[in-house]
Amino acid sequence: MIKDVIADILNKKSFQPQREAGEAFAPTNIALIKYWGKRDHQLNLPVTNSLSLTLSELGAKTKIRLTPASNKDVIFLNGDAVSEDSTFYQRTSAFLNAFREHENSHFTIETQANIPVSAGLASSACGMAALVKALDSLFDWQLSTEQLSVLARLGSGSACRSLWPGFVEWHAGTLENGLDSHGQPLSHQWPALRLGILMISESQKPVSTREAMKRAPMTSYLYKKWPNQVETDLNALKTAIEEKNFTLFGTTSENNALLMHAIMEDSTPSVNYSLPETLQLRQKVWHCRSQGLPVFFTQDAGPNLKLLFLEKDQKAVETLFPEIKIIAPFANQEVAIEPA
Ligand code: PMV
Repeated sequence: MIKDVIADILNKKSFQPQREAGEAFAPTNIALIKYWGKRDHQLNLPVTNSLSLTLSELGAKTKIRLTPASNKDVIFLNGDAVSEDSTFYQRTSAFLNAFREHENSHFTIETQANIPVSAGLASSACGMAALVKALDSLFDWQLSTEQLSVLARLGSGSACRSLWPGFVEWHAGTLENGLDSHGQPLSHQWPALRLGILMISESQKPVSTREAMKRAPMTSYLYKKWPNQVETDLNALKTAIEEKNFTLFGTTSENNALLMHAIMEDSTPSVNYSLPETLQLRQKVWHCRSQGLPVFFTQDAGPNLKLLFLEKDQKAVETLFPEIKIIAPFANQEVAIEPA
């Protein structure tokens, strides 16, 4: 099925390299309205739309070339050869099966990532997005960004949002083959917005999102509430972005993340990505808010928190959370849109 969908997109384009190597960078993205639950597990088709913020400075740079003499794919991550037994290797190699001219065409892939892998920082999102962009360059397909988004989604759902900067909505789509399920950038920017990463642990997640997302719709009572709540949250978040209403923005994002984590816990077997430090930091954020500092958090499939706040509060946030890594998601675009 994946091969058929890819064949549809590529429309007989060739698997003959047009240059020695294809190379591309893709940024990571953090969902503010989360993707949780699939209507098709093979094609990574979501139950609902989701909305993310791209972190332009963080991501993965991937170089790919064909290595005809090799009898297997060879993958390097940050300079080290990746073991064939690892999930990362197996997923990447399985995804590449759809792009081989012959069964024995093999690739060498070199990826440099400036975020930890598999710790809920959307490393698979930027990894898969960089990989499809690198393939597009190697074979010179010249696909549209929407087509690349569909390809990236087939590798890892959230990757389809990593093709654009700023706010990106992933439309769930309705087609069975998922060709209408891809990202779309929002026109609004918010230069004063800041996202701060609080790293608690870089270790890999105990349960893959793939597995956890299977459990939720089948076993969680709370999941019944999810599709309607996501629709409400998406509308609220878009209004907040348009009106630059930070309280609405932060409250909606934080509540959406908390409902997703409640659903995970409510699944059988229960899934919990938090550590004791995660809960302490959540409480610290709530305490700061009760003292008048407008700071909110979101959390993905890992223990680490991402804080949301505005530029005017950056100093206060840095003082209270000295270990924070702060990103200005719209900084590069501000430069880009300045008149020459
Ligand atoms: O695309 P995946 O399988 O990495 O799942 C992403 C799941 C969350 O990060 C928890 C939510 C999201 O929308 O990114």
